[in-house]
Amino acid sequence: MSSLSSELQQVFKEHADKARPVRKAAVLGAGIMGGGITITSAAHGVPVLMKDIAEAQLELGMNEARRQVGRLVQKEKITPEQAEEVMASIDPTLEYLGFDQVDAVIEAVVENLDLKHRVLDELENVVRDEAIIATNTSSLRIDDIGQHMKHPERFVGMHFFNPVPVMPLVEIIQGTKTRDEAVSTAVTWALKMGKTPIVVQDCPGFLVNRILTAYTRAFLELVAEGVDFEHIDKSMEAFGWPMGPAYLEDVIGIDTGSHVSDVISAGYPDRMPHIENDAFRLMKSRDRLGQKNGKGFYDYTPDDSGRPQKHSSPEAHELIRTIQPNGRKELSVEEIQQRMMLAMITESVHCLEDRVVGSAEELDTALLMGVGFPRDKGGAIRYADSLGAKAVLAQCELYRHLGAQYEPTATIRKLAETDGSFYDEFPAGN
Ligand SMILES: NC(=O)c1ccc[n+]([C@@H]2O[C@H](COP(=O)([O-])OP(=O)(O)OC[C@H]3O[C@@H](n4cnc5c(N)ncnc54)[C@H](O)[C@@H]3O)[C@@H](O)[C@H]2O)c1
Repeated sequence: MSSLSSELQQVFKEHADKARPVRKAAVLGAGIMGGGITITSAAHGVPVLMKDIAEAQLELGMNEARRQVGRLVQKEKITPEQAEEVMASIDPTLEYLGFDQVDAVIEAVVENLDLKHRVLDELENVVRDEAIIATNTSSLRIDDIGQHMKHPERFVGMHFFNPVPVMPLVEIIQGTKTRDEAVSTAVTWALKMGKTPIVVQDCPGFLVNRILTAYTRAFLELVAEGVDFEHIDKSMEAFGWPMGPAYLEDVIGIDTGSHVSDVISAGYPDRMPHIENDAFRLMKSRDRLGQKNGKGFYDYTPDDSGRPQKHSSPEAHELIRTIQPNGRKELSVEEIQQRMMLAMITESVHCLEDRVVGSAEELDTALLMGVGFPRDKGGAIRYADSLGAKAVLAQCELYRHLGAQYEPTATIRKLAETDGSFYDEFPAGN
């Protein structure tokens, strides 16, 4: 957190002043995310009731917690005695017993709106009126999940990233009915868990996945035009990304990624219309789901330590050719990088104009921490400033015939005219 500006530190301080203390918490769902949130909270001194409906899941969750705590001991971050204390502060349960004692609860049950409505109804009957209720949804709107709640003002999104103990970012999502105090409590609890919380307003995809979707859609369009996906990966890796978009999608899981991308695209039909020859959809339909089943855009085989190693896949290339009606197209590395990055920049500027996030710095921080944006470029907006608004506008003019995602926004036009900077236009702490 020390790398954050004093303005952003001040934003966190103001939240801390408005927050209610979280001394004890509960997590609903002991799966991948619920287990990760539980261990992260417990390891930072907030005891957790971890509830699931399946005994086997609770056991899995506790085993995972033990493994994570073991790693902390191995890295000498905590002593074996502290590890014991952390484990003792996690209470696995199949009941709601003790939920009337918690200050905050976060639901991380499977991504199904009806189920989430049901568990929120149960929760509202067992927790105290002052407790905040959070959801870790990745693709549903906060307003939709909270629509039947008796007290939606205490309902807030806390979008953790996978794996929770490792990923530093948490998007704190404010629904239209969420009270500021609930947001501040979630921000302060996330800080206590050692995370960097960024407050965003409720919209399809929130902030990070919305911007990432604009980027992955630029990838899908390039592929549909005939560009080789491995060439795109290499171009984006040369730009500084830790992995190119095809490889990234394999790591996320093509079924998950394509679902999230479809849900978000539906929320912005003008800029993100249906893509006819969609490589994600094709891969999914052929059960090429990525690393999770050993084949996606690439093939994967485990190395000696069991880690998946990627190899070029002739089968995947052959499959992709079936959705390239005009055959292969050669594009320069520079054009690929420009189209991919410009799609990300314009969506980022839309997010700032829509006031989804408070400042350019918060947006960039979320991209650096949430999607591995190349560190030396400083984030989409910092990168746009390094190009200069005039150059961004010139690129928009060059590519706008490809679709509304490249239309220059009002701010891009204004700053190009005044030679202004995006960081000055959207400062932190205002
Ligand atoms: N997996 C990810 O990468 C990721 C990332 C960010 C957010 N999310 C979101 O987190 C949530 C959970 O995802 P996950 O990947 O951990 O799922 P998961 O399938 O690993 O775990 C879900 C758990 O919920 C439990 N459950 C189901 N009904 C329940 C109920 N009524 N009460 C208590 N527990 C119940 C299941 O038994 C299971 O243990 C989803 O909303 C998902 O969209 C997932």
